[in-house]
Amino acid sequence: MQANVNGKILQLVQGDITRQEVDAIVNAANSGLRGGGGVDGAIHRAGGPEIMRQCRRLGGCPTGSACVTTAGRLRARFVIHAVGPVWHGGSSDEATLLGSAYRRSLEVADEKGITSIAFPSLSTGAYRYPPPAAAPIATSTVVDFIKGKTSINKVVFVLFNDSTYEAFCQALEQHLRQEDG
Ligand code: APR
Repeated sequence: MQANVNGKILQLVQGDITRQEVDAIVNAANSGLRGGGGVDGAIHRAGGPEIMRQCRRLGGCPTGSACVTTAGRLRARFVIHAVGPVWHGGSSDEATLLGSAYRRSLEVADEKGITSIAFPSLSTGAYRYPPPAAAPIATSTVVDFIKGKTSINKVVFVLFNDSTYEAFCQALEQHLRQEDG
């Protein structure tokens, strides 16, 4: 699925984020930037040890925030390590922290003059955030950001499985319908 937001492209695709041809890939990181499984494992495996060397130098990144390194052997120029919240049932400020992790990633990308960026679905794997609750936050945060003045002209959400892809399509359609109405 693809949408046009103020002349900028927003795409939802299924696949592996490490294979995207974009300036920056967003990692679903932990606050220690220690690496892990899921997206984090795939990015470090594909990008090589230089990314971890830079993560160690950064020392960590708070939940709801995002920090940048170069991308090692990946096609992208940068990896933006975004730290989403662990799902604790929804009453521990998870929604605010998830929105903030997306927004900070976009701000960091904008500061670097990045034009294209790929996101995974933050927090919906090991951190157990339910995709139907996460998708509206992810899509509306990105749509609102790229409506404004930014170097970013293309955002791709790379969704790994059918149910997450469906949740993102539904959320984006609903957000765009509400804006039209
Ligand atoms: N490309 C795109 N999406 C992927 C990929 C991939 N290569 N691998 C996994 N996913 C999907 C998962 O299916 C899930 O929908 O990304 C989403 C996020 O899952 P996680 O990677 O587990 O991220 P998160 O829930 O934010 O948990 C972060 O897990 O790996 C550790 O170090 C990481 O501690 C951190 C935690």
